[in-house]
Amino acid sequence: MFSLSGKTALVTGAARGLGKAMAAALAGAGARVVVNDIPAAKDDLEKVAAETKGFAVTANISREDEVTAMRATVLEKVGPIDILVNNAGINRDGLMKSASSADWESVLAVNLTGAFHCVKTFVNDMRDKRWGRVINIASVVGETGIIGTPYYAASKAGLIGLTKATAAEVARRGVTVNAIAPGYVDTQMTQVLPDDIKKNLIEQIAVGRFAKPEEIAACVVFLASEEAAYITGAVLNVNGGFYM
Ligand code: NAI
Repeated sequence: MFSLSGKTALVTGAARGLGKAMAAALAGAGARVVVNDIPAAKDDLEKVAAETKGFAVTANISREDEVTAMRATVLEKVGPIDILVNNAGINRDGLMKSASSADWESVLAVNLTGAFHCVKTFVNDMRDKRWGRVINIASVVGETGIIGTPYYAASKAGLIGLTKATAAEVARRGVTVNAIAPGYVDTQMTQVLPDDIKKNLIEQIAVGRFAKPEEIAACVVFLASEEAAYITGAVLNVNGGFYM
């Protein structure tokens, strides 16, 4: 429905899960896709690149030097990025009574600092072209806070702040910056949840199930489209009616 023909999209954390579905949906809408993930996920990443007729580039986004090198590789092999999807993310559960500074550092390093590195590195090319889309994958947890998620909730709330501040700065340059806050999605990240917790969560979702990755990916395609040019600084809640 929405055409992304002529646009190049970079999706981080695209070897599996939501990122993989987003890469497929963006390619399906006509975009040239660049998929990123950590070096340890290279084999799966290359399969996604083959399936989407895209280009695979490994980089740990929590390292600024690796993101800088990724931009140089992408510019040389593919060209400038028009659409950046900051999807890569990790989770560590924890409680404040026994909180781990190491887990805090790990989660913030990927979910927030990693996204910051990517925005910082790619947004100026969009500004120069007077067209661009940044889509940050936050979470319902960043808005509600849920027991056991202090690091993850803080990282995703921070990502929403990064989204809004960047959106205000680049809006007049034809670049939109938005966040999607999914509820619970059926991926490997949530497949590790114990059955009783899953059942309890599903009771709190009006639609009565977790989302499919493709349902979140469709929202990414929409926000990347020309038709979404007036939407910026927004947080799109896609949570099936989660009773927050
Ligand atoms: P996933 O764990 O299945 O996939 C995450 C991908 O990110 C993996 O391929 C992983 O290797 C990659 N990654 C991790 N650290 C990286 C780094 N430093 N550099 C580059 N890539 C890295 O997770 P899922 O479920 O697909 O989640 C994708 C995004 O959606 C995450 O940001 C997550 O927080 C968010 N999200 C997920 C929800 C869910 O219920 N699954 C709900 C709300 C948000």
